[in-house]
Amino acid sequence: MCGIVGVLGKHEVSPLLVEALKRLEYRGYDSAGIATVDDGHLDRRRAVGKLINLSDTLVRDPLPGKSGIGHTRWATHGAPTEVNAHPHRAGPVAVVHNGIIENFETLRAELKAQNFGAETDTDTETIALLAQSYLEDGATPDEAVAQTLQRLEGAFALAFLFDGYDDLMIAARRGSPLAISLDDGEAYVGSDAIALAPMTDHLTYLEEGDWAVLTRNSVQIYDAHNQPVERPSEPITPEAGRVEKGGHRHWMAKEIAEQPAVLDQALQHYIRDADLVMPNDAVDFAKVNRVVMVACGTAYYACHVAKYWIERLANLPVEVDVASEFRYREPPIPEGTLAVFVSQSGETADTLAALNYCKGKCPIVAVVNVEGSSIARAADVVLPILAGREIGVASTKAFTCQLAVLAVLALKAARDRGTLTGEQMDAHLDTLTRIPALIAQALNIEDELRDIARDLSEARDILFLGRGAMYPLALEGALKLKEISYIHAEGYASGELKHGPIALVDDSVPVIVFAPTDPLFGKTVSNMQEVMARGGKVVLVSDTQGLSSQRATWHTAQMPDVAELWAPILYAVPAQLLAYHTAIAKGTDVDQPRNLAKSVTVE
Ligand code: G6P
Repeated sequence: MCGIVGVLGKHEVSPLLVEALKRLEYRGYDSAGIATVDDGHLDRRRAVGKLINLSDTLVRDPLPGKSGIGHTRWATHGAPTEVNAHPHRAGPVAVVHNGIIENFETLRAELKAQNFGAETDTDTETIALLAQSYLEDGATPDEAVAQTLQRLEGAFALAFLFDGYDDLMIAARRGSPLAISLDDGEAYVGSDAIALAPMTDHLTYLEEGDWAVLTRNSVQIYDAHNQPVERPSEPITPEAGRVEKGGHRHWMAKEIAEQPAVLDQALQHYIRDADLVMPNDAVDFAKVNRVVMVACGTAYYACHVAKYWIERLANLPVEVDVASEFRYREPPIPEGTLAVFVSQSGETADTLAALNYCKGKCPIVAVVNVEGSSIARAADVVLPILAGREIGVASTKAFTCQLAVLAVLALKAARDRGTLTGEQMDAHLDTLTRIPALIAQALNIEDELRDIARDLSEARDILFLGRGAMYPLALEGALKLKEISYIHAEGYASGELKHGPIALVDDSVPVIVFAPTDPLFGKTVSNMQEVMARGGKVVLVSDTQGLSSQRATWHTAQMPDVAELWAPILYAVPAQLLAYHTAIAKGTDVDQPRNLAKSVTVE
């Protein structure tokens, strides 16, 4: 989390930095700040809260200079106050940081003993203090940064500016992503292509442990051993530059509405002429006897759905884990394992660490939205989900596109292992390619869902239920609702309700049931009856047949008919719309919910 940017420009740099930070705000919005060097004079402005507050500060108190760095913060160490906002400054050094310095307490104590006292609660300030201490010992800025980096433990992407140096910026990365670019007498540093797309059309991704010394006309990259290295420059995809809400009130609304189009695009990439198309080097599932799937948040629930598909279609055991647990569990990776990592951003720190744990132990597939991301670059096989840029913090179109690609992967596994007949395979491919049209139909029940959401917005707790592959969807529905409406919500496997959660049910607790007509429908109905017998208010989301058999529910939402196996892709839509309209009814910040960030690059 946290976004950083740096520019050595030809013109006033504050507006450029603010514009770039706007594009990075998805990484955090607890505070924002910039620092510049103007005629050798280092200065900074910072403001708590969203970027607009920094813009207001800059109107009142402008910051001149053609060299600058900027930061948008997702607080880790220290409350979101102005004092704790980046850039952090110690004497002649200013620094912005994305990541966590794990040994900062030790460093801080050491620095304090040398009379370099800290003024903030942050880990980042110790980086500036360390660099200051080396400069005061006579080091040049390059030497001071090199010495500082050697002392740091943890994860970081950094950009430094120095008082007295109008034409110098130093960048460094370990663990957190960072890209640089030199373009027509200007130099840039940024957390990602999105930040830099309007300013340059190419960039160089620093590799693990790299640091770079930039001037307007030169760049020297060093590796972790301080040896000069060359890194390739890559074009920025035009997609990175496009950021428009297209008339929608929120990014989330736009991204929900885009699903028929982007899903179609994703499916067409993998299913052509009624056949599966996978990259040439895609894994051969005939040689695989076990799949582990690892991810965080919504991507984790996509894996959870895929487990049902892969086990059922390809008769292949699948283990699913959240990355933050997997990475430290030291799970055995026996011969025949395939590891699949799913991540919208491709930058989630825990998922990347889990991938690195598997590196060299088994083949690695990455299912990502951002193709140049760290996770994509570290994997053996990359399966892009082609959702287009997702900006709303609550993931929507990335989830359905992840499901679509994982569905294709499940069918590929079945084909490699010969577990489906030709007719069965054709039928599944045909059904999958029809899903985008069904999603378009499902979007038509938005008005009904809006009415239901108005009632849901009064609730303090809400339960979501589902069985089989709809169980992870119940988890995703609850996650979506709680992240943007702040209503407490939990998802349960329908059959698990009676083992505890039913104690929560009374006439103030809505229970949302995702239940397409399938072989388990009758069992889910029994669980629903148990809820209604206790006064629980059931919202049944089902198809015509499912709804016709049910009476006395509080609300219903009628979905198009869909082959039961692929229903989770379709039923994601009412889960998203219920969360969206409940949040609107509550008046919360849909696109930038409190305490959350889109890209989680810290543990
Ligand atoms: C954050 C986001 C979630 C996302 C999760 C994993 O928590 O708010 O929407 O599902 O990170 O992100 P990834 O980019 O790895 O899919």
